[in-house]
Amino acid sequence: MSILYSKTVLGLLTLQNHLVMAPMTRNRATNNIPNALMVEYYAQRGTAGLIITEGTSPSPNGLGYPRIPGIFSPAQVEGWKRIVDAVHDKGAKMFVQLMHCGRIVHPLNLPAGARVLAPSAVAASGEMYTDAEGMKPHPEPQAMTGEDIKTTLAEFVQAAKNAVAAGFDGIELHSANGYLLEQFIRPNTNQRIDGYGGPIENRARFVLEVTEGVIGAIGKDRVGIRLSPFGVFNDMPLYDTMEADYTYLAQQLNARGLIYIHLVDHSSMGAPPVPEAMKGAFRKLFKRSLILSGGYDAERAESDLAAGKCDLIAVGRPFLANPDLLARWETCAAVNAPDMATFYTPGPRGYTDYPALNERVAP
Ligand SMILES: Cc1cc2nc3c(=O)[nH]c(=O)nc-3n(C[C@H](O)[C@H](O)[C@H](O)COP(=O)(O)O)c2cc1C
Repeated sequence: MSILYSKTVLGLLTLQNHLVMAPMTRNRATNNIPNALMVEYYAQRGTAGLIITEGTSPSPNGLGYPRIPGIFSPAQVEGWKRIVDAVHDKGAKMFVQLMHCGRIVHPLNLPAGARVLAPSAVAASGEMYTDAEGMKPHPEPQAMTGEDIKTTLAEFVQAAKNAVAAGFDGIELHSANGYLLEQFIRPNTNQRIDGYGGPIENRARFVLEVTEGVIGAIGKDRVGIRLSPFGVFNDMPLYDTMEADYTYLAQQLNARGLIYIHLVDHSSMGAPPVPEAMKGAFRKLFKRSLILSGGYDAERAESDLAAGKCDLIAVGRPFLANPDLLARWETCAAVNAPDMATFYTPGPRGYTDYPALNERVAP
């Protein structure tokens, strides 16, 4: 008997299977507003147990990339509502991933009046794509003041309320992959000398305050978090106390009682692997649901679920390229390969035109 394809429970929700569509930025939200094309894309993938949306900004300041959606304006909430309704009609549950990009941004990607904020004024190495001028170096961010920290916390809380108003089943805090929340956790990007910097108790303060804030607003059964221990994406180098820091986070998040922790392992994309001991520590210390992700196929997903390593498996690129991934995996059918060239380009190509099994590929 397969575990992967059987129903399961996530807090108060019943999921139609154990498969989660991982959050994937697709840059189709012209003017940062979810649209009809996105309704089609997400609805096509509605056979998942749970869909986690692409990174979605809680604030104009958090819109680091071109054409990523937000969830801070009424038009954005309306746009998301149509998507959530279409996905619910297909049976999947849906969480919105709240992603504040912090220093991973270029001002050309930001609306007028938005600011480049981060824990400290440390620019990321490398460049960022802009629609206006192509690749540009990352700017030096402004170190957040105490007032900025309060405002940003309030933006996360309001975004969580907006998510519930849009019909989402919950939110996922994006505290992984080098974005704002992780910029507070990591010592290379957090060089503060106030209560938000220094020892891990301080570097974890902002993410824990945001967690408490959104739990206070929408309840612990509606809040998950994504973490990337040992992740190096977006100029986040490995450092000595990584394991101890993330062990502390696992304990503290467990005490907050949120619904899930979602761990990133990007070794299938060339990143350092997350040590098995680290994943095991999260499993042991965090009593609610654990989601593992990164490089899964059906066989490995089934075997990790059967071994009790996690409660749910999240899958990214295979879902991107196969709207009917469940049916394909279940029948051992061939899968479409993802086309990297169209991951982030506007329009339907490489987005809504991946064929399902019963569709003929256009000549
Ligand atoms: C096109 C693309 C966009 C992504 N965008 C996000 C994102 O917005 N938020 C996030 O947490 N991870 C993002 N990821 C990472 C995926 O969620 C996932 O961790 C990664 O693809 C590894 O899983 P896979 O091997 O199943 O693809 C993205 C990955 C891809 C390929």
